[in-house]
Amino acid sequence: MKIDRYVSPTELILKNQIIMNDIRQKNHELFEKTDKTNKFMIITYGCQMNEHDSEKLIGMLKLMGYERTEVKEDADLIIFNTCCVRENAELRVYGNLGHLKSLKEKNPNLKIAVCGCMMQQAQVVEEIKKKYRHVDLIFGTHNTHNFPSLLSKAFGTKNTVVEVWDNEGEIIEGLPLERKFGLKAYVNIMYGCNNFCTYCIVPYTRGRERSRKTEDIINEIEGLVNDGIKDVTLLGQNVNSYGKTLENKISFSDLLREVNKIEGIERIKFMTSHPKDISKELIDTMAECEHVCEHLHLPIQAGSNRLLKAMNRNYTVEKYMEMINYAKERIKGLSISTDFIIGFPGETDEDIEDTIKLIKEVRYDSAFTYIYSKRQGTPAYTYENQIDEKLKHVRFEKVLDELNKIIIEKNANRKGEILEVLVEEKSKSEDKLLTGRSRMNNGVHFEGSDELIGKFVLVKITNPKKFSLVGELVEVLDK
Ligand code: SAM
Ligand code: SF4
Ligand code: F3S
Repeated sequence: MKIDRYVSPTELILKNQIIMNDIRQKNHELFEKTDKTNKFMIITYGCQMNEHDSEKLIGMLKLMGYERTEVKEDADLIIFNTCCVRENAELRVYGNLGHLKSLKEKNPNLKIAVCGCMMQQAQVVEEIKKKYRHVDLIFGTHNTHNFPSLLSKAFGTKNTVVEVWDNEGEIIEGLPLERKFGLKAYVNIMYGCNNFCTYCIVPYTRGRERSRKTEDIINEIEGLVNDGIKDVTLLGQNVNSYGKTLENKISFSDLLREVNKIEGIERIKFMTSHPKDISKELIDTMAECEHVCEHLHLPIQAGSNRLLKAMNRNYTVEKYMEMINYAKERIKGLSISTDFIIGFPGETDEDIEDTIKLIKEVRYDSAFTYIYSKRQGTPAYTYENQIDEKLKHVRFEKVLDELNKIIIEKNANRKGEILEVLVEEKSKSEDKLLTGRSRMNNGVHFEGSDELIGKFVLVKITNPKKFSLVGELVEVLDK
């Protein structure tokens, strides 16, 4: 799985553009003859990085004349963009791939592609080649830009086409994109991770840390704002180390200040900030930039210094609390979220007590709590002091209870508050209501007409629910 030869980004883009035109032409001819448009279905697992990669694949497929469908029986091409951060994410992919075998038997023209983080693991690729022979195409996270060429190869053979690069290569700019939402957009500012937390597979699936050039990021956001996007989330595994791989060194705070100057942008968010690299300068920047939202996602993982050391997180609870307290002091109305891992090897009841103490001190507004999952290839996979599954679940429930108590209490205290909400869509959970997000990332539901979708409104919270807020429309804002 080595890169055969150096191919320059320009050469690659040109080659793929020619192939995209070719497939588009074929799809057009098919439509002329049969009135039928080829359809694709894409299923995305995992984090925003994968969501964003799927947006790139969708952009390319649309340029190739494909139409999107959510019905697998209607699809001519099905793509699984996979995640392997925890075992259950992988098991779901294997399960769903298995189910497609009978569909492929009924429709031999159906092409099945699997991509994303799981494919960066050699043992997974071998397993799919051996046990899921109905898969036509396998490609890795560093091969997204070459998708048209790989798809075209898959059309010409009955064998499984495989392309998984071990190395990240250069950042490829200028791929077409189809954004999931018309109002909000994810913008990658960097790729990969150098941190090697002992439990985490991401550095092995996404390669080493590399930053996009500032001018490429700014150009992309300016283009998005021109297209009506009002809310951008800057993405990276550790945004605080943005700029370190660039010739012209620039900090993440400087980048935020540049993005904040873009005319027409309303909301700027970012994730993820690593506690070992977060600086007071960044917090000051958040406080000073009017468009940067009052929300900080700062994953702690565990409230015990002993566990943080074993996880190779390179910060202490004391350093974390210093930053949290500074941020609360500097940013009015700040909401704070985090990630926890429960059941890391060697975890004791005392460690859980430390985590609960931290939860009570920070008073999180939301949190993602995960049960530790052994990942082959990571250091913690080989640790002998693994925790019993049942005990992991008991501890998980205990931590979740503490978190929920605080989150519910904080939501209840919002009764009577007036929040600025960007209206996103009709609510899926609350019948007949619209739904949107506040600057602090609260999900807010309220009654209003569909014309409000895409607008900023003020909503008075009248009925706080456990994990969301329901209110009444006060005013439609002119922005
Ligand atoms: N780069 C981010 C950071 O350092 O905070 C996190 C990215 S990771 C995709 C998202 C979350 O998944 C992590 O914060 C961690 O809580 C969780 N995670 C990663 N590996 C895990 C594992 N082996 N088992 C359980 N949870 C895991
Ligand atoms: Fe994984 Fe740690 Fe990198 Fe986050 S910082 S992606 S948890 S290795
Ligand atoms: Fe994201 Fe999962 Fe990959 S969390 S980076 S899609 S392993």
